[in-house]
Amino acid sequence: MSSPKSTVPMHDFRSDTVTRPTAEMYDAMREAPLGDDVFRDDPTVLALEAETAKLLGTEAALFVPTGTMANAIGVGLSARPGNEVILLEDGHTYLFEAGGVSRLWGAHPRPLAAPEGCPTPAAVEAAVRRDDPHFPRTSLVCLENTHNMQGGKVIAPARFAEISAMCRRHGLRLHLDGARLLNAAVALGLPAADLTRGADTVSLCFSKGLGCPAGSAIAGTARDMQEALRLRKLLGGGMRQAGILAACGLVALQNGFAHLADDHRRARALAEGLAALPGVTVTPKRVETNIVFVEVRGSDPARYRQLDEALRARGVWAVNIMDRRIRFVTHRDIGDGAIEAAIDAVAKLAREGI
Ligand SMILES: Cc1ncc(COP(=O)(O)O)c(C=O)c1O
Repeated sequence: MSSPKSTVPMHDFRSDTVTRPTAEMYDAMREAPLGDDVFRDDPTVLALEAETAKLLGTEAALFVPTGTMANAIGVGLSARPGNEVILLEDGHTYLFEAGGVSRLWGAHPRPLAAPEGCPTPAAVEAAVRRDDPHFPRTSLVCLENTHNMQGGKVIAPARFAEISAMCRRHGLRLHLDGARLLNAAVALGLPAADLTRGADTVSLCFSKGLGCPAGSAIAGTARDMQEALRLRKLLGGGMRQAGILAACGLVALQNGFAHLADDHRRARALAEGLAALPGVTVTPKRVETNIVFVEVRGSDPARYRQLDEALRARGVWAVNIMDRRIRFVTHRDIGDGAIEAAIDAVAKLAREGI
C-alpha cells in the first residue's frame, strides 16, 4: 500500500483503522437510501442498528460516530456525578478518551491492572466500595474485549460471566468496550452474542478490523438506547444523512468477518518472525488476535523514537506507544508481503544495533 504523502511505499501497521473503503462500500454509499438520522428516519442507519443488535444479542443499538463516543455513552448511562467507575488502568476509556469519565459525567475513575487482558473477578470485587460515607458509590465496571494495550488479548467468556454475576450481586452495571469484539469472536470461534452476555452496554467499532471509514455503535436494552439517543445529542453525535456511513457497516456485516482470522494469522507470523531476531522481545504466545507489541531489550525511550523513525524510513509504519513499546496492528490492507517487509526491516535495524 502506498501513502499519498510519501514517496516510500508504506506498509501501514499503525492501526486497523487505516484501511480505505472497499469498492463495494463505495457502491453501497452511492446507493444507500438516506433520511435524516436526527429525525430517526434514515433507513440505512436503522437497518445497521437492527443488524448490530442482532449480532450482539441486544435489544437495540445506536449508531454513533466513534468508539470514544460509544464508550462515553456507555459510561454516561451508568454513572452519576460522584459515582466510582472501575476500569482498566491501560484500558482505552481510562487512557485515551481525554478523561471523559470525570470530565463528561463527573464520575471518579478507579483503575485496575489487567495484565492478562482482564482482571480477576476477585480483584474487581475487592475494588467495589462498601457503603461508607467516606467513599464514593461504585456504579459501573468497564472491561475491554479485545484489550488493545494488552496486545489484543481476548476475555474468556467464563471470566466475563463471573464478573458479570459479581456485578449483579453488587447492583453494578457492566460496560464492555467491544471496539474489536469481532476479533475476539473469531479468535474464540464463538458468536459475538456469546461474548456480550451479562453486559448492560456494549460498544462496537465498524471502523477497525471491518474496514469502514467511520462509525461505531453502542448497544443494550431498548430503554437504555432511548436515553443513549439523548446522550448522543448532548455529545453532538447526531449526523443527519449518516446512512452514507452506515451503508459501509452493513456491507461489512453482510460480508461477514471470517477474514479477521487472516489478520490474526499474519500477526502471529509477524510475532514469530520478530521473536527470532536478536535484541527484540516479542511473545508470540501472547498474540491472540491482530496486535503485536515489540520491545527492544535494554532500550531507553529515545531508542523507541529512533526505531519508529528508522522503520518509517524503510517503509514500515508502526506506532511508538509512549516510548515503551512499538505496536504493529494487522488488518485488511496488510498482506503476507507486508509481514515479510516488516520482519526484514526490523532484522536490518537489529543487525545495525538499533
Ligand atoms: C479498545 C478501543 N476502544 C475504543 C476506541 C476508540 O475508537 P475511536 O477511535 O473510534 O474513537 C479504540 C480506538 O483505537 C480502541 O482501541
